[in-house]
Amino acid sequence: MKTRKIKNLVVSEIGMGCMGFSHGYGKIPDEDYSIEAIRKGYEAGCTFFDTAEVYGPNLEPQFKGHNEKIVGKAIKDFRQNVILATKLHIPTDEVKADGVYKTLRNHLEKSLERLQTDYVDLYYLHRINPAVEVEEVAAGMGQLIKDGLIKGWGLSQVPVKIIEKAQKITPLTAVQNIYSMLERGVEEEVIPYCLKNDIGLVAFSPISSGFLSGKVTAKTEFEKVDDVRKFVPQLTKENIEANQPILEVIARFADLKNATNAQIALAWMLHKYPNVVPIPGSKNQGRILENLGASNVELTDAEFNELETALNACTVYGHRGFDESEGRSFLQVKHK
Ligand SMILES: NC(=O)c1ccc[n+]([C@@H]2O[C@H](COP(=O)([O-])OP(=O)(O)OC[C@H]3O[C@@H](n4cnc5c(N)ncnc54)[C@H](OP(=O)(O)O)[C@@H]3O)[C@@H](O)[C@H]2O)c1
Repeated sequence: MKTRKIKNLVVSEIGMGCMGFSHGYGKIPDEDYSIEAIRKGYEAGCTFFDTAEVYGPNLEPQFKGHNEKIVGKAIKDFRQNVILATKLHIPTDEVKADGVYKTLRNHLEKSLERLQTDYVDLYYLHRINPAVEVEEVAAGMGQLIKDGLIKGWGLSQVPVKIIEKAQKITPLTAVQNIYSMLERGVEEEVIPYCLKNDIGLVAFSPISSGFLSGKVTAKTEFEKVDDVRKFVPQLTKENIEANQPILEVIARFADLKNATNAQIALAWMLHKYPNVVPIPGSKNQGRILENLGASNVELTDAEFNELETALNACTVYGHRGFDESEGRSFLQVKHK
């Protein structure tokens, strides 16, 4: 697998989003299956694994760390060979009681235990908490880097005005925002800023929660339990139907390149920007290997330009949501 450098970290150009083993896309697999899936991903060349303290069934507090524990068990024999990313939330009451640095450190120490490691390569603030200055978070993360507990840090689901405040205090390694053929908001300001400032853009939901694979149709019944797709505006039956022209464009290129739709969706963003690293999520071993295989699908400049022009001519119906901060995140709003 080809690699990319995001600041000081060298990662496989396609990472693995591990969330689905614990949360978000319906029934979760047996732990043994999930561990095997992560190991198969590693054998296929993946060296970049993404998790978060909050990923557990239904995001319920008693399941906090469910996903980190699975990832920790899966990678323990090759931990030094991979880049491990996790994320935290900073509750206001904890910050009031302990201050920002201590809060970050408390959360990190618990994650380290669950991940069976003594350092995290990339530690993200999962959501901005409007009650806490991002500069203070940046300073705390800088201290954790000095402590030798993390190698770099990042923010998730943030606009440039927040990134630049943080960047002044402790330069960021990566920004993790939603990015796919259906959600291209980051192309306007965030990616140009990151390119200029040597910051990686880690693209979450790069297959638009499965839609771009072509396997989600207007007839798909999402699962009753813990399946975010029930709430994603882009995945209403009407929007699935209205967005079919985008799938037709992708399918044309999939035929041309002897690839799958999902692989074209990933190859497109890899070709477009040198600092973008997608982290597709799947709880299925076959699809994990398929997604990692997108590294072998190379678009020529001419193919890319044709694809881009065709995509630009399509209207995108429905959104997934960008402006998210602590207390207002897509999931929290929709779960009420
Ligand atoms: N920072 C944040 O706020 C944030 C938010 C969301 C996610 N994330 C991270 O980003 C990762 C990726 O996000 P995501 O899981 O929403 O991404 P995604 O890959 O766009 O969507 C996952 C969905 O797509 C399906 N899928 C994936 N590959 C497929 C393929 N080749 N063919 C058919 N269906 C396919 C999966 O089904 P199967 O599982 O059945 O294959 C699952 O239902 C997560 O795992 C998590 O680590 C971060």
